[in-house]
Amino acid sequence: MCGIVGYVGRQRAATIMIEGLKRLEYRGYDSAGLAVLQNGGLTVVKTVGRVAALAKLAAGKKLSGTSGISHTRWATHGGVTDANAHPHLSSDGQVALVHNGVIENYVAIKKFLLTKGYNFASETDTEVLANLIAYHLAKEPENSPEGPRFLNAVRKTLLHVEGTYGIAVLSPAHPDQLVAARKGSPLILGVGDQEYLIASDVSALVSRTQNVVYLKDGELVHITTGGFTLNTLDLADISPVIDKVTWAVDEAELGDYPHFMLKEIFEQPQALENAMRGRFSADGSSANFGGLNLTAADFRQIDRFVFTSCGTGWHACLVAEHLIERYARIPVEVDYASEFRYRNAPLDRNALFFVVSQSGETIDTLAALREAKRKGYKCMAICNVVGSTIAREADGGIYQHAGPEIGVASTKAFTSQLLISSMFALYVARMRDLSFADGVEYVAGLRRVPDLARRALEQAPHIREIALRYARFNDFLFLGRLSLFPIALEGALKLKEISYIHAEGYPAAEMKHGPIALISEQCPSVFLVPKGELFNKVVSSMQEIKARKGLIIAIAPDSVELPEGLADELITIPDCHEAALPILATIPVQLLSYYIAVARKCDVDKPRNLAKSVTVE
Ligand code: F6R
Repeated sequence: MCGIVGYVGRQRAATIMIEGLKRLEYRGYDSAGLAVLQNGGLTVVKTVGRVAALAKLAAGKKLSGTSGISHTRWATHGGVTDANAHPHLSSDGQVALVHNGVIENYVAIKKFLLTKGYNFASETDTEVLANLIAYHLAKEPENSPEGPRFLNAVRKTLLHVEGTYGIAVLSPAHPDQLVAARKGSPLILGVGDQEYLIASDVSALVSRTQNVVYLKDGELVHITTGGFTLNTLDLADISPVIDKVTWAVDEAELGDYPHFMLKEIFEQPQALENAMRGRFSADGSSANFGGLNLTAADFRQIDRFVFTSCGTGWHACLVAEHLIERYARIPVEVDYASEFRYRNAPLDRNALFFVVSQSGETIDTLAALREAKRKGYKCMAICNVVGSTIAREADGGIYQHAGPEIGVASTKAFTSQLLISSMFALYVARMRDLSFADGVEYVAGLRRVPDLARRALEQAPHIREIALRYARFNDFLFLGRLSLFPIALEGALKLKEISYIHAEGYPAAEMKHGPIALISEQCPSVFLVPKGELFNKVVSSMQEIKARKGLIIAIAPDSVELPEGLADELITIPDCHEAALPILATIPVQLLSYYIAVARKCDVDKPRNLAKSVTVE
């Protein structure tokens, strides 16, 4: 949510930062801006709109400076205006700052600064930071025993701040320097060849360096052309740990696809292969998760799992609940991370927590993890982004290895979470009562999933045709049962977020307890049809819709035979093991949403009001 890129080096900072911002644009895209240090002063360019608009504006200026900061915004405090875009300048012109996060006590700080003669040009909470740093800078002696003046001014400011921040700061009085700090909002230092970058996301850095330092909460980095130091707010020196990013630059590029969302939908077979690689036991009957750091004896003690997450990840938790309870017979509780952290739920003594997060930075999920740990529970993470805050703070976990997910609507990360959930269910089930033979059959079923996903993707042209016929409707129902109910929720969420169509997900049998009132020729229903004992029940629900002139799009396994004429449209998915069904059923709902959004001319990768990775509450 919001993106930051900063640069200190020998190249033109503006060019490098704009390239970085383009890679970060999925984090927020209502306005963008940059500031560079040059000719003894600060040059600021900012505008409402996308990074492309900023690039155009910047092209008309002479931006030769080799130190700079930049930002792409997702508005929190203050509307989408040029004045509210970042960077923000202190009213004395001595400080420029970009900020991700929310300053909770900004009203009190603003009052104080007004009494000291500082003025405000925007409605943002951020501007108080720029002015408070300028205030401390003006008071700070040149040769303080506490260290460099610029660093100290930022540090002292942050001691007064409540809320969350990832910031990058410049001052014309301190050329070729940049100070950055984080609390609750990710920030990464890139260590390049005679250059340093700061960014809120590794994807902005990988084209220039793969050597990175992940800043922790409460840390500040002071960058100069000759090097950098890492400190805490109370002045302790920290020895930096330099990590290597394993993502290749082209993984975060569009290639021949029109949208990241489509690219990532088609990357699912590969992401699924990556999620399972090396994770099946040698005897072919179970899974292995070394990163959990728990023995079979530890698992024997657990009498409940608690899964928390947000959005799409929460839907993955619901599938995990179904599979773990079904195969391992251990109770599972699923909670929205944002609710869990405030509702003070009574918990079992031997509960094991899991948080699920693609980005590893979602603030509500991070807070839930911290809350569980504070209460003395072990908390594991299922996470895609290596080195992210959640991955680092968890007691153990499972990396998804799905590669960078840039499309705001999560796709490949979701199916990868589903696969990991089904493998985890198997892992615990085999420690309990699932037989060797059933385990072998389960593993064989999961091993086929990447190939079956490839086959499911072959339906894309057919789904596109259906989407063209149905793109005119403004209401949809998505209906499924048991492990397909979360996929109904996910289908409805995908459609809502990228095409702005009202859609609801329901357990199919619940439909007659209320939502059936919505059914008419104007409200199509997407049915996720199972095999086995519930097939007939779902067919009955479809009949109820048909009797009320509702249109039906059915997504069903190859081998099921629906009564003639019941479905208006049929999308088939390959037959598969029951534990893999939610994964394969997801692919058509993703494609349907995608093609409907494209038909409605929606900006699929940058849906309105949304941004990837929600790092504010
Ligand atoms: C929807 C979507 C969001 C995220 C949610 C959690 O397509 O992407 O609902 O799933 O914001 O994000 P992560 O998984 O990064 O914690």
